[in-house]
Amino acid sequence: MPTALVTGATAGIGARFAHHLAGRGYDLVLVARDEERLGRSAAIHRAGTGVAVEVLPADLATEDGIAAVERRVARGVDLVVNNAGFGQQGDFLGSEIDEEVAMLKVHCEAVLRITRAALPPMLERRAGGVVNVASVAAFFSRGTYSASKAWVVTFSDSVRQQISGGGVHVMALCPGWVRTEFHERSGMDTSGIPAFLWLDPDRLVTAALRDLRRGVAVSVPGLPYKVVIGLAKILPRRLTTRLSARTGSRHDH
Ligand SMILES: NC(=O)c1ccc[n+]([C@@H]2O[C@H](COP(=O)([O-])OP(=O)(O)OC[C@H]3O[C@@H](n4cnc5c(N)ncnc54)[C@H](OP(=O)(O)O)[C@@H]3O)[C@@H](O)[C@H]2O)c1
Repeated sequence: MPTALVTGATAGIGARFAHHLAGRGYDLVLVARDEERLGRSAAIHRAGTGVAVEVLPADLATEDGIAAVERRVARGVDLVVNNAGFGQQGDFLGSEIDEEVAMLKVHCEAVLRITRAALPPMLERRAGGVVNVASVAAFFSRGTYSASKAWVVTFSDSVRQQISGGGVHVMALCPGWVRTEFHERSGMDTSGIPAFLWLDPDRLVTAALRDLRRGVAVSVPGLPYKVVIGLAKILPRRLTTRLSARTGSRHDH
């Protein structure tokens, strides 16, 4: 049985990845901070599909948490989904610096180190994959969040090129708006987001796994977001920044 490790596997996009991968016969390693919730998620996947499920409680904003996941992937897994992440509250100067640094740890350092630890055993077997969950926000200028996701896109594409021909694929996944716990947790008001921009999480994951199989470098599920990113690449930065500031304001503004 192949094994997939999913970070942020207890809620939202990560939970749907775990569900779809279990349905495709992957044994699972589930990573998140909340141990009780990890146990409940594991029980649901075991009962639903009969796959083997390990839980690995880890806070990816900490050295110990990242190191624990590094050790697990270095033992060998077939697929890694670096998905754990969170949104931001407030503007840069009004934010807690510890929160900003934690975001870089979870979105960048953890992704960097887990990818680095997972690849050698995959390359030895000439099989495997890494999905690094970025965001459409990577193509806009909206604080440390979008900057960290831009790093995920560039990093993933760079590693993909460096290992090409080795039988292992690294892909950045850029979701647009998806209804999860993300917005509530980060205090975002999403009432102004038009219905057509909300992606169904199951469709998102199905499209991502299809893109992974096809060797897509940067997966952008949903036609509206393919258009948005296409425009973001050609329009002046000042204009795209102004447009993106109109969507998804925060409760504290
Ligand atoms: N939802 C969207 O509209 C959207 C759009 C674009 C990109 N994304 C990206 O998609 C990814 C998943 O987001 P989501 O929407 O599914 O969010 P979510 O529903 O809030 O789920 C976040 C998951 O990450 C875990 N997590 C958070 N901080 C962690 C930490 N420090 N260490 C380990 N695990 C942690 C959470 O579990 P614990 O709290 O138990 O740790 C939970 O399982 C994120 O990278 C996000 O940036 C989301």
